[in-house]
Amino acid sequence: MSDTNRLKIIREEILHCQNCALAKGRKNAVPGEGPSSVEVMFIGEGPGYHENQQGKPFVGQAGAFLDELLAAANLKRDEVFITNVVKCRPPSNRDPLPEELSACARYLDEQIALLDPKIIVTLGRFSMAKFIQNGRISQIHGKSHRVDGRIVVTMYHPAAALHQPALRPALVEDFAKLPRLLGGESPVEPKAEVFAPESKPEVKPEKKEEKPDLPEQLSLF
Ligand code: URA
Repeated sequence: MSDTNRLKIIREEILHCQNCALAKGRKNAVPGEGPSSVEVMFIGEGPGYHENQQGKPFVGQAGAFLDELLAAANLKRDEVFITNVVKCRPPSNRDPLPEELSACARYLDEQIALLDPKIIVTLGRFSMAKFIQNGRISQIHGKSHRVDGRIVVTMYHPAAALHQPALRPALVEDFAKLPRLLGGESPVEPKAEVFAPESKPEVKPEKKEEKPDLPEQLSLF
């Protein structure tokens, strides 16, 4: 079976998935979107209000900012693949739970294997934690890491910069590195640590205030 067809099957599986409790509260699962062959793949945390409504990733305020960042990096949305570590919206945009992350991990792993991107950009700490053990986003944002033979660039989540404008310049600067990396510049920065976790790191959810069911997702650092 071709990779394109396999990706379509995974998409259908995600749309009908009942593997964790998030299935109960969703309007739409959000498998992700983009071509079946890409150089860059972006991985966020999980659908927010608008994504759940529309079944598409990053279509709310964070998505509008992501579009700006992509444009500044000379990337078009339709030439990259955008998805999330969890494919259904956590209630009130809370952090995804370990069991939700593991229920969804197979889908993301298969998407990565089939898309075979040159660069994976993680947006926020939950997608960072999939690749980098014990990383602190404040210390390793914008860094390139070689993980399982692939370049992983760890970045702040766009919603974090909307919530905390002081993070915005860092995100803009980090995105500006992408064209050079895609052009073949030495991928792993000399001082960046190289991580190759053997087991999947577990992210401990931070204690957070219960949020009202706001349409935008603003809790991603
Ligand atoms: N935030 C995410 O992490 N993913 C989306 O798809 C939208 C907002």
